[in-house]
Amino acid sequence: MQWVLQWALQFARRSPKTFPMNTPTNPLIAAAFAPPVMEARRWLDGVRPAPGRPLINVSQAAPTAPPPQALREAIAEIALEDAAAHLYGPVLGLPELRAEIAERWSAAYGGTIAAEQVAITSGCNQAFCAAMTTLAGPGDEVILPTPWYFNHKMHLDMAGVRAVALPAGDGMLPDPARAEALVGERTRAIVLVSPNNPAGVEYPADLVAAFADLAGRHGLALVLDETYRDFDSRDGAPHALFANPDWAETVIQLYSFSKAFRLTGHRVGAIVAAEKRLRQVEKYLDTVSICPNQIAQRAALFGLRNLGRWLAGERAEILARRTAVQAAFAPLEARGWRLRGLGAYFAYLEHPFAASSAALAPLLPQRAGVLMLPGTMFRPADDPRGEREFRIAFANTDSAGIAALFRRLEKLPPDLAPLPQGA
Ligand SMILES: Cc1ncc(COP(=O)(O)O)c(C=O)c1O
Repeated sequence: MQWVLQWALQFARRSPKTFPMNTPTNPLIAAAFAPPVMEARRWLDGVRPAPGRPLINVSQAAPTAPPPQALREAIAEIALEDAAAHLYGPVLGLPELRAEIAERWSAAYGGTIAAEQVAITSGCNQAFCAAMTTLAGPGDEVILPTPWYFNHKMHLDMAGVRAVALPAGDGMLPDPARAEALVGERTRAIVLVSPNNPAGVEYPADLVAAFADLAGRHGLALVLDETYRDFDSRDGAPHALFANPDWAETVIQLYSFSKAFRLTGHRVGAIVAAEKRLRQVEKYLDTVSICPNQIAQRAALFGLRNLGRWLAGERAEILARRTAVQAAFAPLEARGWRLRGLGAYFAYLEHPFAASSAALAPLLPQRAGVLMLPGTMFRPADDPRGEREFRIAFANTDSAGIAALFRRLEKLPPDLAPLPQGA
């Protein structure tokens, strides 16, 4: 026994030399910004909520409630009864789920999508990374409307792909003509998120069509992230891209089961794209996850088959909250606030203060009992617009909470600025 202790001691003494701490870091990873939601969580460290004023956290666009009871029971049964749910499965996903998506999407979008044109991924973020990895490499360019979804930008940075910012114009909508002026030799794709994170806006069908046309003319991919599709206020298909029999030459659609069925922690999403692109996607997915979570895929399939009415209720609730935001925001107008975009889970605001939103956001938990993200997290560092903006992710806050949130913002003093040290 004694010799074991001696050996362990010697090893411990030697190990700093044997395993130096200064191992290399890929400069592309080092240069990428840190996960914004994690950064925002740190602003809560040491914050003591004022009596009777619990924190209103509108920082993250993720359901905090668990999936509905029926889905949790289905997950339990899958875990207990379905032996295959514990094994590796096909890289591109469960064939039944791919077929179900193909059938439902074909009906919903009025087009023809084959099961072979659907891949299942470990969430929509992975869907984006996989699609992008097949499209662009170091030195290539991808056009990203701003304000952007920060994880898109992070992935492109780490892959050495230049994100070319396309600032949204009137109504927070990107302009295809401005996008066309940005297309160059190295452009590989244009990314749209509709309904949009962070601005909430729903892109009109003809705008989406104009982007598809632009992408098609230049031989680019149009990557359309429809994570919030189920909360679109419009009835019927939000665009007609899939009605074009040649859609697969241009369109890559991304989807998430995180929001629809509250499966955030289970990690399941999808890519709808040309079969030949999915053969490239398969190589990427094989190396990063081998297959999507097997229980999660079966849960998503259960959701698609059984939770349509429940999801319709969720959508109605989100739309009611959106109306509550509109009503509760009105008095802030007189205080110099502006509502730039509203929809899906989001309100995108312009604030009236002299200080940057990046300086204000960390103060708000203590000063107002509110946690929300500054616009600087959704824009390039050299775009001053972000300093004037905040994103509110209101999906987890009921109408009473939304009213309380805007009352708190309304009461903020006009000279709101960083507190002196030690205050
Ligand atoms: C636009 C957009 N895409 C993708 C995701 C990530 O989705 P998933 O949980 O399926 O990875 C989010 C989550 O906030 C999002 O807002």
